Amino acid sequence: GARGPAGRRGKCGRCGQGALLACAAWTAGWVLAVALLLRAHPGVLSERCTDERSRRILAALCRDYRRGALTGDLCEDLCVAGKLLYQRCLYYERGKKVLQADWRGRPVVLKSTSENFSSFQSLGLLDEEAGEGSQDIPEAELLLMVAGQVKNVLGLELSSGSLGPLWPGQQGPRWRGQLASSWALLQQEEFIHLSLLQGLSQHVLPVLGSCGHFYAVEYLAAGSPHHRTLFPLDEAAGIPWGGQGQAKAISNIALSFLDMVNHFHSDFSHRLHLCDIKPENFAIRRDLTVVAIDVDMAFFEPKMSEILEQNCTGDEDCNFFDCFSKCDLRINKCGAQRVNSNLQVICDKIFRHWFSSPLESSAISLQLQWQLRGVVQECAD
Ligand SMILES: Nc1ncnc2c1ncn2[C@@H]1O[C@H](COP(=O)(O)OP(=O)(O)O)[C@@H](O)[C@H]1O
Ligand SMILES: *[C@@H]1O[C@H](CO)[C@@H](O)[C@H](O)[C@H]1NC(C)=O
Ligand SMILES: *[C@@H]1O[C@H](CO)[C@@H](O)[C@H](O)[C@H]1NC(C)=O
Repeated sequence: GARGPAGRRGKCGRCGQGALLACAAWTAGWVLAVALLLRAHPGVLSERCTDERSRRILAALCRDYRRGALTGDLCEDLCVAGKLLYQRCLYYERGKKVLQADWRGRPVVLKSTSENFSSFQSLGLLDEEAGEGSQDIPEAELLLMVAGQVKNVLGLELSSGSLGPLWPGQQGPRWRGQLASSWALLQQEEFIHLSLLQGLSQHVLPVLGSCGHFYAVEYLAAGSPHHRTLFPLDEAAGIPWGGQGQAKAISNIALSFLDMVNHFHSDFSHRLHLCDIKPENFAIRRDLTVVAIDVDMAFFEPKMSEILEQNCTGDEDCNFFDCFSKCDLRINKCGAQRVNSNLQVICDKIFRHWFSSPLESSAISLQLQWQLRGVVQECAD
């Protein structure tokens, strides 16, 4: 330092700056990579989406099954026969658990909004009559409770005749466990939705069975914004990347979306509103039927009105995810009627992705493709 050559100090300063820049870029790169990873797989940091954790949850389920606390038509296959085999954890957040499993050679998804049976409220009637007489609870009383739960959760008033799919069926030797299991399932909105729509719609997942608080649905190839075609055509239907087969498949999926829109609009006693429309919430079957796999944000008209009718000072207060209404400034209340539609949002968030530029190697004329683009834009607006 005695010599103190100014030139050298200058050079060193520059090289330090370079190193600093490189270091900053490297750090930023890692932060970005981790952020992207967390966005794609929110469950990775949670130790609860591990195989070990999932197996522990299923082992507890089977223990409760063996001691008679819970039951269900899948328990035997899961806990005794080994025909329902755990494969991997798909998702875990705040107790909600989604597992992939193999059921007699068929890929299925096991779901519950809470991993522990004990997290669900127990049926008050069972506690009161602990020990002896749960056989004696009149069926009418139980049906009334199911109807109450449906009214609470979906906002629908159904006659006991239409509650059949939610009902555990005949009193058997495991009646107590059956009631407790049904009650845990009835606390899960999605289960109620899917069970009631069972057999009424090809655009929702059928419930394949249940064990305790877990219910099974078919495993399907879900959409993703990361796919260039939004849906994994190869995985779902064996359609190779690119080419005319792909363009045709996309047209067929679009038609199935339109069929679903029509169906949800007019085939139930109340309109069904989808308030969270994005590729991830839909999946396709082998035959390219579109299925709404996440119905947490699907609401029948009465519930929709209840959700929309909020206090407001402007229209922006009346937006509930993809479901909008307008603020009535005279009374500062949002209108109960939704002002946009499922079709509009699907045009905006799904179709525009496919049809805003001409499809590569499509069989239809360019002129028709431009026309389609215009129609989709008009629909979205
Ligand atoms: N039927 C299914 N087939 C394939 N994957 C599914 C299915 N159901 C759920 N998943 C996967 O599990 C994830 C979480 O399930 P979901 O019910 O959508 O939870 P949430 O409503 O909390 O997002 C989904 O993003 C999807 O990746
Ligand atoms: C489920 O039970 C386990 C073991 O008792 C506990 O560690 C876990 O926190 C519980 N999970 C929830 C969501 O309550
Ligand atoms: C909405 O406004 C009414 C009347 O101004 C008020 O009584 C009510 O508490 C408000 N509700 C909410 C949820 O803010």
